[in-house]
Amino acid sequence: MIREIVKMGSPVLRREADLITQFDTPELHQLVDDLLETMRANDGAGLAAPQINISKQVVIFGFDESDFKDEQMAARVKERGPVPLTILINPVITPLSDEMEEGLEGCLSIPGLCGMVPRYQAIRYQGFDQYGKPIDCQVHGFHARVVQHECDHLFGKLYIDRMIQIQSLQYIDVYQQNMANAE
Ligand code: NI
Repeated sequence: MIREIVKMGSPVLRREADLITQFDTPELHQLVDDLLETMRANDGAGLAAPQINISKQVVIFGFDESDFKDEQMAARVKERGPVPLTILINPVITPLSDEMEEGLEGCLSIPGLCGMVPRYQAIRYQGFDQYGKPIDCQVHGFHARVVQHECDHLFGKLYIDRMIQIQSLQYIDVYQQNMANAE
């Protein structure tokens, strides 16, 4: 079912989410299905359970260019490469080096806006899938950015909390206009 996405200001987005203690349950599978449907319906790159008002440690992310109706988004994804669809539960992130890089992020809970956010360039992430199977991956670049953004949602953090250059906060449509004009 497509669920309503809660926006910045909702207390659920500022709370630490509860760990999943039972895997492979009808309730958990339903939550994953709802996250997938809601993410796709909103042209999202990822979604965390608190964003549909469920305070549990479940995130999903992943896309390829065919997932985006918006042409500019599709082109950007093509440039940076696809991210395989992943369901990640009770995640733990470990940076692989101190190197940080800035990149543009948006969030379905802060509609219309985007900004430059520093993230670790390379990370290891561990957790479980919805069946309880362990996940242990090392990723870098945009893939690592998406994982860090989604997992932040489980600990009450939004991308704007991480911004250093607050002046880079801008409306997505203005950003896209500026990009189109620059070409
Ligand atoms: Ni977000």
